[in-house]
Amino acid sequence: MSETENAAIAAAGLPSGGKSELARRDFLNEISLAALGVAGLGAAVVTYQYFSPNVLFEPPTRFRAGNPDLYPVNSVTFLQSQQVYIVRTPEGFYAVSAVCTHLGCVTQWKPEANQIACPCHGSKFQPDGKKIEGPAPRPLPHFAIALTADGELVVDKLEIVKAGQALRV
Ligand code: FES
Repeated sequence: MSETENAAIAAAGLPSGGKSELARRDFLNEISLAALGVAGLGAAVVTYQYFSPNVLFEPPTRFRAGNPDLYPVNSVTFLQSQQVYIVRTPEGFYAVSAVCTHLGCVTQWKPEANQIACPCHGSKFQPDGKKIEGPAPRPLPHFAIALTADGELVVDKLEIVKAGQALRV
């Protein structure tokens, strides 16, 4: 750079060539560090997601259904949160799945017809889960039902039992 150019730069208040180069280098260093920081943070997030278990949190499969006196004899009670019917007959209690065995729709209790009906494709079941009609290939499964030590009904949806095994209370 000639002296005339340096004098013009100094007169304009601009930093001289050496200082300008240094400032640009600092700026590029800071940009590079910022880019590395962003890339490192992204890698940390992806790594954390990779090592986190990919699980679906569902309600527990074993649940308390309350005191037996809550259920009158000859009643069918739908427990929506568990998608289970608690059926009480003179012989005892059954826990019947409310999920249709055709394509998994949630069935509905129809007291006027004394039937469990599937709204999707018209399968119909008796209160004890036996199939009456429709495309469902199997009856509604029965879950294990028992009494706790403090006298409450407890249902285990992981344990399928034969239909007809009533819990006598
Ligand atoms: S899902 Fe119930 S009849 Fe098809």
